[in-house]
Amino acid sequence: MKLTILGGGGFRVPLVYGALLGDRAEGRVTHVVLHDLDAERLSAVTRVLAEQAAQVPDAPEVTATTDLDEALRGADFVFSAIRVGGLEGRANDERVALAQGVLGQETVGAGGIAYGLRTVPVAVDIARRVARLAPDAWVINFTNPAGLVTEAMSRHLAGRVIGICDSPVGLGRRIARVLGANPREAFIDYVGLNHLGWVRGLRVAGRDELPRLLADTELLGSFEEGKLFGPDWLQSLGAVPNEYLHYYYFNRETVRAYSQAEKTRGAFLRDQQAGFYEEMKRPEASALTAWDRTRAEREATYMSENRESAGAGEREADDLSGGYEKVALALMRAIARDERTTLILNVRNQGTLSVLDADAVIEVPCLVDANGAHPVAVAPLPDHATGLVCAVKAVEREVLAAAESGSRATAVKAFALHPLVDSVNVARRLVEGYTEVHPGLAYLG
Ligand code: G6P
Ligand code: MN
Repeated sequence: MKLTILGGGGFRVPLVYGALLGDRAEGRVTHVVLHDLDAERLSAVTRVLAEQAAQVPDAPEVTATTDLDEALRGADFVFSAIRVGGLEGRANDERVALAQGVLGQETVGAGGIAYGLRTVPVAVDIARRVARLAPDAWVINFTNPAGLVTEAMSRHLAGRVIGICDSPVGLGRRIARVLGANPREAFIDYVGLNHLGWVRGLRVAGRDELPRLLADTELLGSFEEGKLFGPDWLQSLGAVPNEYLHYYYFNRETVRAYSQAEKTRGAFLRDQQAGFYEEMKRPEASALTAWDRTRAEREATYMSENRESAGAGEREADDLSGGYEKVALALMRAIARDERTTLILNVRNQGTLSVLDADAVIEVPCLVDANGAHPVAVAPLPDHATGLVCAVKAVEREVLAAAESGSRATAVKAFALHPLVDSVNVARRLVEGYTEVHPGLAYLG
Protein backbone atom coordinates (compact mmCIF):
# COMPACT_ATOMS: atom_id res chain seq x y z
CA MET A 1 0.00 0.00 0.00
CA LYS A 2 1.46 3.29 -1.11
CA LEU A 3 0.63 6.54 0.64
CA THR A 4 1.65 9.87 -0.87
CA ILE A 5 1.79 12.90 1.40
CA LEU A 6 1.60 16.29 -0.33
CA GLY A 7 3.15 18.94 1.87
CA GLY A 8 5.46 16.10 2.89
CA GLY A 9 8.01 18.53 4.33
CA GLY A 10 5.32 19.82 6.69
CA PHE A 11 5.68 19.84 10.43
CA ARG A 12 2.84 17.45 11.19
CA VAL A 13 4.00 14.63 8.90
CA PRO A 14 5.77 12.82 11.78
CA LEU A 15 2.40 12.55 13.55
CA VAL A 16 1.05 10.62 10.56
CA TYR A 17 4.17 8.48 10.28
CA GLY A 18 4.02 7.73 14.01
CA ALA A 19 0.46 6.44 13.57
CA LEU A 20 1.55 4.29 10.61
CA LEU A 21 4.37 2.80 12.70
CA GLY A 22 1.78 1.59 15.19
CA ASP A 23 -0.25 -0.15 12.51
CA ARG A 24 0.89 -3.78 12.28
CA ALA A 25 -2.15 -5.20 10.53
CA GLU A 26 -2.40 -6.84 7.12
CA GLY A 27 -2.79 -4.36 4.25
CA ARG A 28 -1.01 -1.54 6.10
CA VAL A 29 0.96 1.21 4.38
CA THR A 30 4.38 -0.09 3.33
CA HIS A 31 5.64 2.86 1.32
CA VAL A 32 5.33 6.57 2.10
CA VAL A 33 6.17 9.11 -0.58
CA LEU A 34 6.71 12.64 0.66
CA HIS A 35 6.20 15.41 -1.84
CA ASP A 36 7.07 19.03 -1.20
CA LEU A 37 8.18 22.03 -3.23
CA ASP A 38 11.01 22.61 -0.78
CA ALA A 39 13.79 20.01 -0.72
CA GLU A 40 15.24 21.31 2.55
CA ARG A 41 11.97 20.84 4.37
CA LEU A 42 11.76 17.34 2.92
CA SER A 43 15.17 16.41 4.26
CA ALA A 44 14.33 17.87 7.69
CA VAL A 45 11.18 15.80 7.98
CA THR A 46 12.86 12.71 6.54
CA ARG A 47 15.39 12.93 9.36
CA VAL A 48 12.62 12.96 11.97
CA LEU A 49 10.92 9.96 10.35
CA ALA A 50 14.18 8.02 10.23
CA GLU A 51 14.64 8.51 13.98
CA GLN A 52 11.04 7.51 14.62
CA ALA A 53 11.56 4.30 12.62
CA ALA A 54 14.94 3.42 14.15
CA GLN A 55 13.73 0.70 16.53
CA VAL A 56 10.69 -0.41 14.55
CA PRO A 57 10.93 -3.60 12.47
CA ASP A 58 9.38 -3.36 8.96
CA ALA A 59 8.80 0.38 9.26
CA PRO A 60 7.18 1.78 6.11
CA GLU A 61 9.81 2.79 3.58
CA VAL A 62 10.07 6.57 3.05
CA THR A 63 11.03 8.31 -0.17
CA ALA A 64 10.94 12.00 -0.95
CA THR A 65 10.51 13.91 -4.18
CA THR A 66 9.82 17.42 -5.47
CA ASP A 67 8.13 16.00 -8.60
CA LEU A 68 4.37 16.03 -8.07
CA ASP A 69 3.39 13.68 -10.89
CA GLU A 70 5.99 11.14 -9.85
CA ALA A 71 4.69 11.31 -6.28
CA LEU A 72 1.10 10.68 -7.38
CA ARG A 73 1.62 7.81 -9.80
CA GLY A 74 0.57 4.49 -8.31
CA ALA A 75 -0.62 5.99 -5.02
CA ASP A 76 -3.40 4.15 -3.17
CA PHE A 77 -3.95 7.07 -0.81
CA VAL A 78 -2.99 10.71 -1.15
CA PHE A 79 -2.89 12.92 1.93
CA SER A 80 -3.05 16.55 0.93
CA ALA A 81 -1.58 18.76 3.64
CA ILE A 82 -0.22 21.71 1.74
CA ARG A 83 0.11 25.32 2.88
CA VAL A 84 0.06 27.68 -0.07
CA GLY A 85 2.11 30.77 0.81
CA GLY A 86 3.59 29.08 3.87
CA LEU A 87 3.25 30.39 7.41
CA GLU A 88 4.37 33.80 6.20
CA GLY A 89 1.17 33.77 4.14
CA ARG A 90 -0.83 32.84 7.24
CA ALA A 91 0.72 35.70 9.19
CA ASN A 92 -0.16 38.09 6.34
CA ASP A 93 -3.73 36.78 6.29
CA GLU A 94 -4.02 37.77 9.92
CA ARG A 95 -2.23 41.11 9.67
CA VAL A 96 -4.22 42.45 6.71
CA ALA A 97 -7.52 41.50 8.34
CA LEU A 98 -6.65 42.93 11.75
CA ALA A 99 -5.62 46.19 10.07
CA GLN A 100 -9.27 46.41 8.94
CA GLY A 101 -10.53 45.50 12.41
CA VAL A 102 -11.74 42.02 11.40
CA LEU A 103 -10.59 38.52 12.18
CA GLY A 104 -7.77 36.96 10.18
CA GLN A 105 -7.87 33.38 11.46
CA GLU A 106 -6.69 30.85 8.86
CA THR A 107 -10.09 29.19 8.53
CA VAL A 108 -12.65 31.68 9.84
CA GLY A 109 -13.72 35.03 8.43
CA ALA A 110 -11.52 37.20 6.21
CA GLY A 111 -8.35 35.19 6.84
CA GLY A 112 -10.07 31.95 5.83
CA ILE A 113 -11.33 33.55 2.62
CA ALA A 114 -7.87 34.88 1.72
CA TYR A 115 -6.31 31.50 2.45
CA GLY A 116 -9.05 29.76 0.46
CA LEU A 117 -8.62 32.10 -2.51
CA ARG A 118 -4.97 31.22 -2.89
CA THR A 119 -5.31 27.53 -2.02
CA VAL A 120 -8.26 26.52 -4.21
CA PRO A 121 -6.45 26.89 -7.59
CA VAL A 122 -3.56 24.75 -6.30
CA ALA A 123 -5.89 22.14 -4.80
CA VAL A 124 -7.85 21.96 -8.05
CA ASP A 125 -4.65 21.38 -10.00
CA ILE A 126 -3.75 18.54 -7.63
CA ALA A 127 -7.23 17.02 -7.94
CA ARG A 128 -6.98 17.07 -11.72
CA ARG A 129 -3.60 15.38 -11.62
CA VAL A 130 -4.85 12.71 -9.23
CA ALA A 131 -7.82 12.05 -11.51
CA ARG A 132 -5.42 11.54 -14.38
CA LEU A 133 -2.46 9.78 -12.77
CA ALA A 134 -3.99 7.85 -9.86
CA PRO A 135 -7.69 7.57 -10.67
CA ASP A 136 -8.25 4.82 -8.09
CA ALA A 137 -6.56 6.69 -5.25
CA TRP A 138 -8.47 8.06 -2.28
CA VAL A 139 -7.57 11.62 -1.39
CA ILE A 140 -7.71 12.64 2.24
CA ASN A 141 -7.64 16.40 2.51
CA PHE A 142 -6.10 17.98 5.61
CA THR A 143 -5.47 21.35 3.96
CA ASN A 144 -7.33 24.24 5.55
CA PRO A 145 -9.83 25.74 5.10
CA ALA A 146 -10.66 22.04 4.95
CA GLY A 147 -14.35 22.12 4.01
CA LEU A 148 -13.91 24.60 1.19
CA VAL A 149 -10.78 22.93 -0.18
CA THR A 150 -12.45 19.51 -0.05
CA GLU A 151 -15.42 20.89 -1.97
CA ALA A 152 -13.11 22.39 -4.62
CA MET A 153 -11.39 19.02 -5.06
CA SER A 154 -14.66 17.07 -5.03
CA ARG A 155 -15.67 18.79 -8.27
CA HIS A 156 -12.93 16.71 -9.93
CA LEU A 157 -12.78 13.66 -7.70
CA ALA A 158 -16.41 13.28 -6.57
CA GLY A 159 -16.59 11.03 -3.50
CA ARG A 160 -12.93 10.02 -3.73
CA VAL A 161 -11.86 13.05 -1.73
CA ILE A 162 -12.69 13.20 1.95
CA GLY A 163 -11.80 16.09 4.24
CA ILE A 164 -10.68 15.59 7.81
CA CYS A 165 -10.40 17.66 10.96
CA ASP A 166 -9.73 16.63 14.53
CA SER A 167 -11.79 19.33 16.28
CA PRO A 168 -15.12 17.45 16.26
CA VAL A 169 -13.45 14.27 17.49
CA GLY A 170 -11.69 16.18 20.26
CA LEU A 171 -14.99 17.83 21.19
CA GLY A 172 -16.83 14.50 21.25
CA ARG A 173 -14.07 12.95 23.32
CA ARG A 174 -14.18 15.77 25.88
CA ILE A 175 -17.95 15.59 26.23
CA ALA A 176 -17.81 11.80 26.61
CA ARG A 177 -15.09 12.15 29.23
CA VAL A 178 -16.97 14.59 31.44
CA LEU A 179 -20.05 12.40 31.16
CA GLY A 180 -18.04 9.34 32.18
CA ALA A 181 -18.86 7.62 28.87
CA ASN A 182 -16.50 5.65 26.67
CA PRO A 183 -15.91 7.77 23.51
CA ARG A 184 -15.69 4.60 21.46
CA GLU A 185 -19.19 3.56 22.48
CA ALA A 186 -20.71 7.00 21.98
CA PHE A 187 -22.42 8.33 18.87
CA ILE A 188 -21.77 12.05 18.53
CA ASP A 189 -24.71 13.83 16.95
CA TYR A 190 -22.69 16.58 15.28
CA VAL A 191 -23.28 18.49 12.04
CA GLY A 192 -22.39 21.70 10.25
CA LEU A 193 -19.50 22.86 8.12
CA ASN A 194 -15.83 22.41 8.99
CA HIS A 195 -15.03 24.55 12.06
CA LEU A 196 -18.72 25.52 12.14
CA GLY A 197 -20.61 22.64 13.70
CA TRP A 198 -22.56 21.80 16.85
CA VAL A 199 -22.89 18.73 19.05
CA ARG A 200 -26.61 18.31 19.70
CA GLY A 201 -26.49 14.94 21.40
CA LEU A 202 -24.24 12.14 22.59
CA ARG A 203 -25.87 8.76 22.49
CA VAL A 204 -24.70 5.75 24.45
CA ALA A 205 -26.70 2.57 24.02
CA GLY A 206 -29.45 4.60 22.37
CA ARG A 207 -29.76 7.08 25.23
CA ASP A 208 -28.91 10.76 24.79
CA GLU A 209 -26.56 11.76 27.61
CA LEU A 210 -26.08 15.39 26.54
CA PRO A 211 -29.11 16.76 28.46
CA ARG A 212 -27.44 15.52 31.65
CA LEU A 213 -24.40 17.66 30.81
CA LEU A 214 -26.42 20.71 29.79
CA ALA A 215 -28.32 20.58 33.07
CA ASP A 216 -25.17 20.53 35.17
CA THR A 217 -23.48 23.95 35.31
CA GLU A 218 -20.45 22.70 37.16
CA LEU A 219 -19.83 19.86 34.73
CA LEU A 220 -20.35 22.28 31.83
CA GLY A 221 -17.67 24.60 33.15
CA SER A 222 -15.17 21.78 33.53
CA PHE A 223 -13.98 21.24 29.96
CA GLU A 224 -12.50 23.30 27.13
CA GLU A 225 -15.66 24.36 25.28
CA GLY A 226 -17.52 24.99 28.54
CA LYS A 227 -14.72 27.31 29.65
CA LEU A 228 -14.53 29.08 26.28
CA PHE A 229 -18.24 29.69 25.77
CA GLY A 230 -19.39 29.67 29.39
CA PRO A 231 -22.08 27.30 30.76
CA ASP A 232 -24.87 29.86 30.35
CA TRP A 233 -24.35 30.23 26.63
CA LEU A 234 -24.19 26.46 26.11
CA GLN A 235 -27.42 26.12 28.02
CA SER A 236 -29.04 28.82 25.89
CA LEU A 237 -27.90 27.07 22.73
CA GLY A 238 -28.87 23.63 23.99
CA ALA A 239 -25.81 22.34 22.15
CA VAL A 240 -22.04 22.43 22.35
CA PRO A 241 -20.44 24.35 19.48
CA ASN A 242 -17.13 23.57 17.83
CA GLU A 243 -14.39 25.68 19.46
CA TYR A 244 -14.03 27.72 16.24
CA LEU A 245 -17.50 29.18 16.83
CA HIS A 246 -15.86 31.19 19.58
CA TYR A 247 -14.79 33.55 16.80
CA TYR A 248 -18.46 34.09 15.93
CA TYR A 249 -20.15 34.16 19.31
CA PHE A 250 -17.40 36.28 20.89
CA ASN A 251 -16.17 38.05 17.79
CA ARG A 252 -15.47 41.41 19.37
CA GLU A 253 -13.43 39.89 22.18
CA THR A 254 -11.44 37.56 19.93
CA VAL A 255 -10.63 40.32 17.44
CA ARG A 256 -9.48 42.50 20.33
CA ALA A 257 -7.39 39.70 21.84
CA TYR A 258 -5.79 38.96 18.47
CA SER A 259 -5.00 42.63 17.82
CA GLN A 260 -3.39 42.98 21.22
CA ALA A 261 -1.38 39.79 21.01
CA GLU A 262 2.37 40.20 20.87
CA LYS A 263 2.36 37.94 17.81
CA THR A 264 -0.54 36.50 15.90
CA ARG A 265 -0.78 32.71 15.73
CA GLY A 266 0.60 32.63 12.19
CA ALA A 267 3.52 34.88 13.06
CA PHE A 268 4.29 32.81 16.15
CA LEU A 269 4.25 29.57 14.17
CA ARG A 270 6.23 31.11 11.31
CA ASP A 271 9.06 31.99 13.69
CA GLN A 272 8.80 28.85 15.77
CA GLN A 273 8.87 26.55 12.76
CA ALA A 274 11.65 28.49 11.06
CA GLY A 275 13.71 27.74 14.18
CA PHE A 276 12.96 24.03 13.87
CA TYR A 277 13.86 23.79 10.16
CA GLU A 278 17.02 25.82 10.84
CA GLU A 279 17.99 23.43 13.62
CA MET A 280 17.52 20.50 11.28
CA LYS A 281 20.34 21.81 9.13
CA ARG A 282 22.77 20.97 11.93
CA PRO A 283 23.71 17.30 11.49
CA GLU A 284 24.46 16.79 15.19
CA ALA A 285 20.97 17.88 16.35
CA SER A 286 18.54 15.17 17.40
CA ALA A 287 15.71 15.56 14.92
CA LEU A 288 13.08 13.77 16.97
CA THR A 289 13.86 15.68 20.18
CA ALA A 290 13.74 19.03 18.38
CA TRP A 291 10.51 18.10 16.63
CA ASP A 292 8.85 16.90 19.79
CA ARG A 293 9.80 20.00 21.74
CA THR A 294 8.45 22.23 18.97
CA ARG A 295 5.26 20.19 18.73
CA ALA A 296 4.61 20.37 22.48
CA GLU A 297 4.99 24.14 22.44
CA ARG A 298 2.69 24.44 19.43
CA GLU A 299 -0.01 22.38 21.10
CA ALA A 300 0.23 24.15 24.44
CA THR A 301 -0.32 27.54 22.79
CA TYR A 302 -3.17 26.47 20.48
CA MET A 303 -6.01 29.06 20.62
CA SER A 304 -4.30 30.74 23.56
CA GLU A 305 -5.77 34.18 22.74
CA ASN A 306 -9.27 32.72 22.75
CA ARG A 307 -8.67 31.01 26.06
CA GLU A 308 -7.15 34.13 27.54
CA SER A 309 -10.01 36.36 26.43
CA ALA A 310 -12.49 33.91 27.95
CA GLY A 311 -10.43 33.42 31.12
CA ALA A 312 -10.33 29.71 30.30
CA GLY A 313 -6.79 29.06 31.59
CA GLU A 314 -4.35 26.46 30.29
CA ARG A 315 -5.25 23.52 28.07
CA GLU A 316 -5.80 20.19 29.79
CA ALA A 317 -3.10 17.59 29.34
CA ASP A 318 -5.58 15.16 27.74
CA ASP A 319 -6.46 17.75 25.08
CA LEU A 320 -2.92 18.39 23.96
CA SER A 321 -2.71 15.82 21.23
CA GLY A 322 -5.51 16.53 18.81
CA GLY A 323 -5.63 13.10 17.22
CA TYR A 324 -5.66 14.34 13.62
CA GLU A 325 -3.37 11.48 12.57
CA LYS A 326 -5.68 8.99 14.28
CA VAL A 327 -8.66 10.18 12.26
CA ALA A 328 -6.58 9.85 9.08
CA LEU A 329 -5.40 6.35 9.92
CA ALA A 330 -8.86 5.17 11.00
CA LEU A 331 -10.30 6.49 7.74
CA MET A 332 -7.62 4.84 5.62
CA ARG A 333 -8.00 1.51 7.42
CA ALA A 334 -11.77 1.54 7.04
CA ILE A 335 -11.49 2.11 3.31
CA ALA A 336 -8.53 -0.18 2.62
CA ARG A 337 -9.76 -3.11 4.71
CA ASP A 338 -13.46 -2.56 4.55
CA GLU A 339 -13.49 -2.16 8.34
CA ARG A 340 -16.81 -0.44 8.80
CA THR A 341 -16.65 2.47 11.21
CA THR A 342 -18.26 5.83 11.97
CA LEU A 343 -16.16 9.01 11.72
CA ILE A 344 -16.98 12.71 11.54
CA LEU A 345 -15.75 13.78 8.10
CA ASN A 346 -16.11 16.42 5.41
CA VAL A 347 -18.09 14.92 2.55
CA ARG A 348 -20.73 15.94 0.05
CA ASN A 349 -24.08 16.63 1.65
CA GLN A 350 -26.19 14.38 -0.55
CA GLY A 351 -29.41 15.47 1.11
CA THR A 352 -28.23 15.28 4.72
CA LEU A 353 -28.95 18.96 5.42
CA SER A 354 -31.98 19.78 3.31
CA VAL A 355 -31.14 23.49 3.20
CA LEU A 356 -27.95 22.80 1.21
CA ASP A 357 -27.59 21.27 -2.23
CA ALA A 358 -26.27 17.74 -2.77
CA ASP A 359 -22.71 18.78 -3.68
CA ALA A 360 -22.10 21.10 -0.74
CA VAL A 361 -19.38 19.65 1.46
CA ILE A 362 -20.48 19.45 5.09
CA GLU A 363 -18.99 18.00 8.28
CA VAL A 364 -21.05 15.12 9.58
CA PRO A 365 -20.74 11.60 11.03
CA CYS A 366 -20.21 9.16 8.19
CA LEU A 367 -20.28 5.41 7.84
CA VAL A 368 -17.00 4.45 6.21
CA ASP A 369 -16.21 1.24 4.37
CA ALA A 370 -14.45 0.14 1.20
CA ASN A 371 -16.95 2.19 -0.80
CA GLY A 372 -15.99 5.43 0.90
CA ALA A 373 -17.71 7.72 3.39
CA HIS A 374 -21.50 7.98 3.52
CA PRO A 375 -23.13 10.65 5.68
CA VAL A 376 -25.61 9.34 8.24
CA ALA A 377 -29.03 10.91 8.59
CA VAL A 378 -29.08 13.67 11.20
CA ALA A 379 -31.77 15.96 12.57
CA PRO A 380 -31.96 19.42 11.00
CA LEU A 381 -30.08 22.28 12.67
CA PRO A 382 -32.01 25.02 14.50
CA ASP A 383 -32.61 28.22 12.49
CA HIS A 384 -29.76 30.24 14.00
CA ALA A 385 -27.26 27.52 13.05
CA THR A 386 -28.83 26.97 9.64
CA GLY A 387 -28.47 30.71 9.04
CA LEU A 388 -24.74 30.66 9.75
CA VAL A 389 -24.14 27.48 7.77
CA CYS A 390 -25.99 28.83 4.72
CA ALA A 391 -24.26 32.23 4.91
CA VAL A 392 -20.80 30.67 5.16
CA LYS A 393 -21.53 28.12 2.43
CA ALA A 394 -22.61 31.00 0.17
CA VAL A 395 -19.29 32.70 0.90
CA GLU A 396 -17.41 29.48 0.06
CA ARG A 397 -19.26 29.30 -3.24
CA GLU A 398 -18.17 32.85 -4.08
CA VAL A 399 -14.58 31.87 -3.26
CA LEU A 400 -14.85 28.88 -5.61
CA ALA A 401 -16.36 31.08 -8.31
CA ALA A 402 -13.64 33.73 -7.91
CA ALA A 403 -10.93 31.08 -8.08
CA GLU A 404 -12.44 29.72 -11.28
CA SER A 405 -13.11 33.02 -13.04
CA GLY A 406 -10.34 35.17 -11.59
CA SER A 407 -12.95 37.86 -10.96
CA ARG A 408 -11.95 40.45 -8.40
CA ALA A 409 -15.57 41.55 -7.98
CA THR A 410 -16.49 38.00 -7.01
CA ALA A 411 -13.66 37.96 -4.47
CA VAL A 412 -14.99 41.21 -2.98
CA LYS A 413 -18.45 39.60 -2.84
CA ALA A 414 -17.03 36.61 -0.94
CA PHE A 415 -15.54 38.86 1.76
CA ALA A 416 -18.54 41.20 1.88
CA LEU A 417 -21.06 38.39 2.39
CA HIS A 418 -19.20 36.89 5.33
CA PRO A 419 -21.05 37.41 8.63
CA LEU A 420 -17.77 38.54 10.29
CA VAL A 421 -17.00 41.23 7.69
CA ASP A 422 -19.12 44.25 8.57
CA SER A 423 -18.95 46.47 5.48
CA VAL A 424 -18.61 46.19 1.73
CA ASN A 425 -15.93 48.87 1.97
CA VAL A 426 -13.98 46.67 4.37
CA ALA A 427 -14.29 43.82 1.87
CA ARG A 428 -12.90 46.05 -0.89
CA ARG A 429 -9.96 47.08 1.25
CA LEU A 430 -9.32 43.46 2.21
CA VAL A 431 -9.05 42.45 -1.44
CA GLU A 432 -6.68 45.39 -2.00
CA GLY A 433 -4.57 44.46 0.99
CA TYR A 434 -4.46 40.75 0.25
CA THR A 435 -3.62 41.09 -3.43
CA GLU A 436 -0.75 43.40 -2.47
CA VAL A 437 0.89 40.89 -0.16
CA HIS A 438 0.04 37.53 -1.72
CA PRO A 439 1.68 36.54 -5.03
CA GLY A 440 -0.78 33.59 -5.04
CA LEU A 441 -3.63 36.06 -5.63
CA ALA A 442 -2.15 37.62 -8.75
CA TYR A 443 -4.84 35.80 -10.75
CA LEU A 444 -7.52 38.16 -9.41
CA GLY A 445 -7.61 40.64 -12.27
C1 G6P B 1 -6.90 22.03 15.06
C2 G6P B 1 -7.70 22.39 13.82
C3 G6P B 1 -6.85 22.27 12.59
C4 G6P B 1 -5.58 23.08 12.76
C5 G6P B 1 -4.85 22.62 14.01
C6 G6P B 1 -3.56 23.35 14.29
O1 G6P B 1 -6.61 20.68 15.05
O2 G6P B 1 -8.83 21.61 13.69
O3 G6P B 1 -7.59 22.68 11.48
O4 G6P B 1 -4.77 22.91 11.63
O5 G6P B 1 -5.69 22.77 15.10
O6 G6P B 1 -3.72 24.68 14.57
P1 G6P B 1 -2.43 25.60 14.65
O7 G6P B 1 -2.92 26.93 15.07
O8 G6P B 1 -1.49 24.96 15.63
O9 G6P B 1 -1.84 25.61 13.26
MN1 MN C 1 -9.47 21.59 11.55
